[in-house]
Amino acid sequence: MAKLIGNKSNIAVFISGRGSNLKYLIKNSKCKNSLFRIKLVISNNSEANGLKYAEKSKIKFYVIKYNNNNTSDAQLLRLLKKFKIDLICLAGFMKIISKNFIDKFHKPIFNIHPSLLPKYKGLNTHLRALKNNEKFSGSTVHLVTSRLDSGKIILQKKVKIYKLDNVKSLEKKILKIEHKIYSDAVNKFLSNP
Ligand code: GRF
Repeated sequence: MAKLIGNKSNIAVFISGRGSNLKYLIKNSKCKNSLFRIKLVISNNSEANGLKYAEKSKIKFYVIKYNNNNTSDAQLLRLLKKFKIDLICLAGFMKIISKNFIDKFHKPIFNIHPSLLPKYKGLNTHLRALKNNEKFSGSTVHLVTSRLDSGKIILQKKVKIYKLDNVKSLEKKILKIEHKIYSDAVNKFLSNP
């Protein structure tokens, strides 16, 4: 897959809810050495808390009821073209992107997943890691393919699980590292042709 070098790359962030990763992608994109800017935010949920971060930073956002079909794909692809988007970051986007969309976009799509992939693909990662008495969990930034949570890993970071940890405390610890590694992963990818 061709990588992007030269000027800052235009990123679209797809969200569905809280949007804390979006918040930090926006914040980190303003750092001096950032290789990307957040150009567009897409949400499939009009009530998504994350939309307020886009609004606050005057970033264009659209609510699209993404249905994983050709009509939604075409609508999204048109928008991404209009905003000259070079790379998509899925950040808590609770819809599965269609193979048709991935094939037609032709550019990288990233996702952040709250586990040490390939372990614990899918939902309820923290609960499953705790039930299995894992010593570590973490977060992974990976390329999106048509197979769920399975594309090439760009960056991964571990956190230790302690006896007293529960789903809430583990989620909090992992979210904290996600807020840094998502931007680090994008910059790493963009700086390494
Ligand atoms: C994050 O934990 C991310 O790994 C997962 O969904 C969560 C989104 O959180 N894919 P937020 O909406 O960015 O706060």
